[in-house]
Amino acid sequence: ESQERRSLVSSLIEDVPDFPKPGVMFKDITPLLASARGFQAAVTELVTTAPRHVDVVVGMEARGFIFAAPVALALGAGFVPVRKPGKLPGDTISHSFELEYGHETLTMHRDAIRPGARVMVIDDVLATGGTIGATAELIRELGAELAQVSVVMELAFLDGRARLAERGIDNCTALV
Ligand code: PRP
Repeated sequence: ESQERRSLVSSLIEDVPDFPKPGVMFKDITPLLASARGFQAAVTELVTTAPRHVDVVVGMEARGFIFAAPVALALGAGFVPVRKPGKLPGDTISHSFELEYGHETLTMHRDAIRPGARVMVIDDVLATGGTIGATAELIRELGAELAQVSVVMELAFLDGRARLAERGIDNCTALV
């Protein structure tokens, strides 16, 4: 059953060559989201990866929001957004990381998560691991516990998992 759901999820993620630039193979999740059964299957499987107790589900702008919010509802947990700079109105903490060209900064409200809270992080894709790594730093800075990281899809050839391991993150699960 679980395997069938994951196969369905995999079959609904479309390879788009040369997007957003030549040489890049884009993984398009819009067919997955447009499929009632597919979207349901993805959320159901993400929920099965949740540890026993989760206080807060953290999702990253923008595609992470789509999966993290329904998982939070299913778990009876709160939802906290990690956003790009300039979007959150309150007092924020931020963490920057290197991209292939330039850098990216992610932010979170300082009062969004209490110290000691058990946090599950959900995103659509693990690629280089920069986004999850920065998110983990924000959660650590708030004194919360990163109980689980789950993504719909992992691009294994980019070795993001090794980057996460270097930062002590070894509890990352990918559906496909
Ligand atoms: C994509 C994706 C992940 C991240 C993964 O987000 O949704 O968050 O990249 O890449 P990484 O492992 O190399 O950090 P993107 O920055 O394209 O933003 P979006 O979700 O707003 O489209």
